[in-house]
Amino acid sequence: MEAALAACRAARGPVVVLTGAGVSAESGIPTFRGKEGYWTVGSREYHPQELATHAAFTRMPWDVWAWYLYRRGVCRRAEPNAAHRALAALDCDLITQNVDGLHRRAGSRRVYPIHGDIDHMRCADDCCLDIFAMPEDVADPKAQLRCPRCGGMARPHVLWFDESYDEPRFFLDTSRRLAAHAGLLVVAGTSAQTNLPWQVVTLALRAGATVIDVNIEDNPFGEIATHVVRAPAAEAIPAITNAIAGHVRSD
Ligand code: APR
Repeated sequence: MEAALAACRAARGPVVVLTGAGVSAESGIPTFRGKEGYWTVGSREYHPQELATHAAFTRMPWDVWAWYLYRRGVCRRAEPNAAHRALAALDCDLITQNVDGLHRRAGSRRVYPIHGDIDHMRCADDCCLDIFAMPEDVADPKAQLRCPRCGGMARPHVLWFDESYDEPRFFLDTSRRLAAHAGLLVVAGTSAQTNLPWQVVTLALRAGATVIDVNIEDNPFGEIATHVVRAPAAEAIPAITNAIAGHVRSD
């Protein structure tokens, strides 16, 4: 930990943070690939990973909606933890894979949710690119989960496994640009299994950035990061943000 904190103090240039499900684990939201994760515990009918596809939504839209409304409930009952709060206080550019909205609820302003946001919906027929806030309470999904523009069916604003990143909805170019100009990249709570996070880490390394990997376990990003911290995010992130904030930066 000490070497990573020293590196945070010494780093020059913009600070960028990339987070995954591990940062919300201590808020009670299951991770995806952990032993209680969404991907490894099959729902009563379907394997969760089958539900997170456009193909599944086309085949059984209301089953997919029921699953996202269930997950939304889990996220809304959760509270931001010390890691979310420390990152909000740091006020840096924050690229997150999490759809739970906890960074936003902790007060972070420059948040880029590259896999979407479970509190938002879009037109299932793409009549427009707009992203709409979901109704507070969804008592009648078939009546309420409609596109406010065309009245057609709405869909969850999340990136599904059979879909691609873009800029207007998933901050593809923004994430790449931030990574390519980073002086310090802090990666926390991710198993490094998805595409854009790999681009972010490799672009930052190519730009000569210091890259800190925070995780309770080894993972592929730990093998290429300049420093690794093996500790829970709610413990490590406040120490890291204090080291960053405590050092008068030149950027
Ligand atoms: N502190 C730090 N790291 C933790 C903690 C914790 N308290 N708890 C778990 N972790 C780590 C795990 O060791 C694991 O490496 O967080 C990681 C969580 O990995 P995943 O469950 O695979 O989640 P994530 O990497 O965010 O998944 C990425 O994949 O399934 C898609 O769209 C989904 O956004 C998700 C993406």
